[in-house]
Amino acid sequence: MENAMGFWTNKVVMITGASSGIGKGLALDLAPRGAKLALLARRQNLLDEIVNATRLRGGKALAVAVDVRDADAMRAAADRIEAQLGPIDILIANAGVGTSNHISQLDPIHTANVISINVLGAANSVAAVVPQMIERGTGQLVAISSLAAYRGLPKSAAYCASKAAMSAYFESVRIDLRDSGVRVTIIHPGFIKTPLTAGRDAKMPYLMELDDAIPKIVSAIEKGKKSVAFPWQLATVVRAGMLMPTFMYDWIAARNSFRE
Ligand SMILES: NC(=O)c1ccc[n+]([C@@H]2O[C@H](COP(=O)([O-])OP(=O)(O)OC[C@H]3O[C@@H](n4cnc5c(N)ncnc54)[C@H](OP(=O)(O)O)[C@@H]3O)[C@@H](O)[C@H]2O)c1
Repeated sequence: MENAMGFWTNKVVMITGASSGIGKGLALDLAPRGAKLALLARRQNLLDEIVNATRLRGGKALAVAVDVRDADAMRAAADRIEAQLGPIDILIANAGVGTSNHISQLDPIHTANVISINVLGAANSVAAVVPQMIERGTGQLVAISSLAAYRGLPKSAAYCASKAAMSAYFESVRIDLRDSGVRVTIIHPGFIKTPLTAGRDAKMPYLMELDDAIPKIVSAIEKGKKSVAFPWQLATVVRAGMLMPTFMYDWIAARNSFRE
């Protein structure tokens, strides 16, 4: 059986949202494991710094400045990655924006932006790589969704909708790809210390350090898990919420306004 180090050796891993937070953390973790990394985001200067950091760790990485909302640009990015690093083995669809607004302050442009980055951006990422994976009969699609996917949370209409859509999208893709050789892994993290959560005053129960979250994501990918949720304490609360009658869920959720 392949050991954890062997799993990543020479795998071409395309990470969207690699300029910051979880994506950057994954890049720095996977570099010394022998993965060939394609790091995608809009901010080229940050990607270049991370490429240098991965090289210092003995890794090989390519920076690709691209907006996940642009389907053609994503397709061109995948072509460039394949030409320079080889066929893409693993896509980690991680690019996303986190928002927190009471519905009274939610404007349609803002909602469209969240949905287009978190949902359509992930779908564009899949579309850029999946035909080649199907043709080769191998590959892995990884979604960085959220525990916010499971039920509506206060002040989070656009974000919860985007993550629920993302998880459902990847679940459908997983079913379509049954027996294709392409695996699909959906990750549902709770709160992690990244620029996305920085500066929030709201309660963030079981807030995790990035260094504690990254190994959970890496392990789930290695094991080819279909779906994982962590930390277990918050995942248990969220799963219990799914079983609650609506009146009870609304009452509890309104009193635990985690996302301000
Ligand atoms: N932190 C948490 O508590 C938490 C919990 C659950 C799930 N998540 C999910 O984890 C993912 C990463 O979040 P994070 O916490 O690491 O946040 P982050 O530090 O703000 O990173 C977000 C990344 O997404 C990229 N991005 C945003 N819009 C983009 C676009 N239009 N095109 C390309 N890249 C884009 C950003 O790069 P550029 O700005 O350079 O483009 C950045 O690299 C998100 O999907 C988030 O929903 C986070």
